[in-house]
Amino acid sequence: MRISTVLSLAGLATAAPVPEAEAPKFGIAPAGQGFFGAGQVRTLWNQGDHSNLGCLTNTGLWTTNESQCGTFVSKELTTGHSVKTFQLFTSAGPCSIYGAKFYCDKNATPFLFGLWPWPNSIPGVDSLRAGQYGLMATFGNNPPLKEEGPQEIHFVTYRETGKYVWLTWAPLRGGPILTPVPIE
Ligand SMILES: *[C@@H]1O[C@H](CO)[C@@H](O)[C@H](O)[C@H]1NC(C)=O
Repeated sequence: MRISTVLSLAGLATAAPVPEAEAPKFGIAPAGQGFFGAGQVRTLWNQGDHSNLGCLTNTGLWTTNESQCGTFVSKELTTGHSVKTFQLFTSAGPCSIYGAKFYCDKNATPFLFGLWPWPNSIPGVDSLRAGQYGLMATFGNNPPLKEEGPQEIHFVTYRETGKYVWLTWAPLRGGPILTPVPIE
């Protein structure tokens, strides 16, 4: 009985290979594992191949210079809730939204971020949501040029040119672990 089951499963696999589910993209956490523990916030193109267009620095700026990627710590707040909400911290301080701008600063009030719940972000990965906003860009080059340094990033107004990005999570394993700032 067991042998025939194995054989029939093997036959099925040969006849119709099951598509690979949730293949990790650029070390990005798959859906359900994003914005947990310590990680980098990676900027992925909202279209095409969802290419990896850099990361956010510790102050929340967008950079394409890998040596300037920040380390973020996520503090989960939603035990018992169906949709995960969390706060983000770096060595610069809590991360927040000012107007439409993302930033991290010692004087910032930590923003209550969530996961983008609608199907128009990147399949198979968690994208950051702030209220009903998530898709981001700079008012300059998108992505910023390595030479121009990190740039302010904000929720798109659709006047920006270039490639818009979602904020996603690349977990750090064995990397620097920051101590989360205690919340009152
Ligand atoms: C990338 O960042 C490092 C560290 O800040 C800096 O030394 C280097 O010059 C930068 N690279 C470019 C191309 O700007």
